Amino acid sequence: MDPSPALNRRQWLHATGALVAGWSVPGAARASTDRPSEPTGPVRLGLNENPFGPSPSAIAAMQAQLAVTHRYPSNFTNELVQAIAKKEGVKEDQVLLGVGSGEILQAVGRWLGPFKPEIITATPGYMQLIDVAQRAGARIISVPVNDRLEHDLPAMAAKISADTKLIYICNPNNPTGTLIPPAELRAFVREVSKKTLVLIDEAYLECSDDFQANTMVDLVREGLDVIVTRTFSKIHGLAGQRIGYAITHPAAAERMRSFMTGTMATNLLGVVAARASLEDHAYVKNTRIKIKAGRDQLTSLLTTLNRRFAKPQGNFVFFHTGMPIADFQQRMREEGILVARPFPPLLDWCRITIGLPGEMERAHQALRKILG
Ligand SMILES: Cc1ncc(COP(=O)(O)O)c(C=O)c1O
Repeated sequence: MDPSPALNRRQWLHATGALVAGWSVPGAARASTDRPSEPTGPVRLGLNENPFGPSPSAIAAMQAQLAVTHRYPSNFTNELVQAIAKKEGVKEDQVLLGVGSGEILQAVGRWLGPFKPEIITATPGYMQLIDVAQRAGARIISVPVNDRLEHDLPAMAAKISADTKLIYICNPNNPTGTLIPPAELRAFVREVSKKTLVLIDEAYLECSDDFQANTMVDLVREGLDVIVTRTFSKIHGLAGQRIGYAITHPAAAERMRSFMTGTMATNLLGVVAARASLEDHAYVKNTRIKIKAGRDQLTSLLTTLNRRFAKPQGNFVFFHTGMPIADFQQRMREEGILVARPFPPLLDWCRITIGLPGEMERAHQALRKILG
């Protein structure tokens, strides 16, 4: 939406309600909003959604712009790109918005796949890029996680060949939830990015205990052949609005852009919500604390139940059930709890997302009954 030439930017924001809603000015008055309430039906702990929902300022920003959704989103999109570039300390042409970070991952798969390259990834791991690349012609080199269910970086480095075009690192990993020690990952990326493009998927990193120490975006700033992807679907609680982004060098951003739906694909409400959420540090911090509390309570229950689990740093926990996952899923479903799909080859392990406190109480009861 173009500000009318007759209005300056501040007057325009007032006229549209954006200023009142706190969209453009962090900390401005916020609209009152309902928070997600504890559900009565099945508890959905299978998709790694953030049950605490979007921040009140993101909701207010969307409400303020509902009446202008007849406009294309380009001005808002530009502002979001500028805000992300500023936050990440990169230039705007190093930021690529996507319809969720999933669209960006798929674009990388469509870009590289037809070269029939080798792509190295961990197993079990997140498959969105991998599946698309494989369908487009890539050969996937799957490297099993180590006995702590963490990426096995030396084994991954040993698989690099002249045909390798990408190493995909999901950190924290989905489904295991493990985080690679940052010094180890940084040294690995510095070394292997001399030979191949590296993509670090940081979808869950803001749920972890120390985002700043673990993000690899500084390696993009150094100019290495690296892509970092992030999403507003997880800590920001905006999965339904489909906004994610990549930070990389301008040439890679340009290539990826040409394999995406288009610059106008991200929707206006999602963009304004993301912009507001980016500034809402208090809400993000608070959500991180609640996710960590849920994670800690679940791992202490699993310890009591004598179950192995991978050290979790996302908004989910991956643990050993001692039975085929299909049976475990069914038994949890009978208790009203939906858990994640199977993750081969670990077919007696289960991933559970951290839900609202009442949802977790129900999940704990079910786990005690089934595993106790
Ligand atoms: C590791 C990882 N990366 C990327 C995504 C894609 O998320 P979105 O498209 O909602 O940004 C997900 C979704 O669950 C994920 O688990």
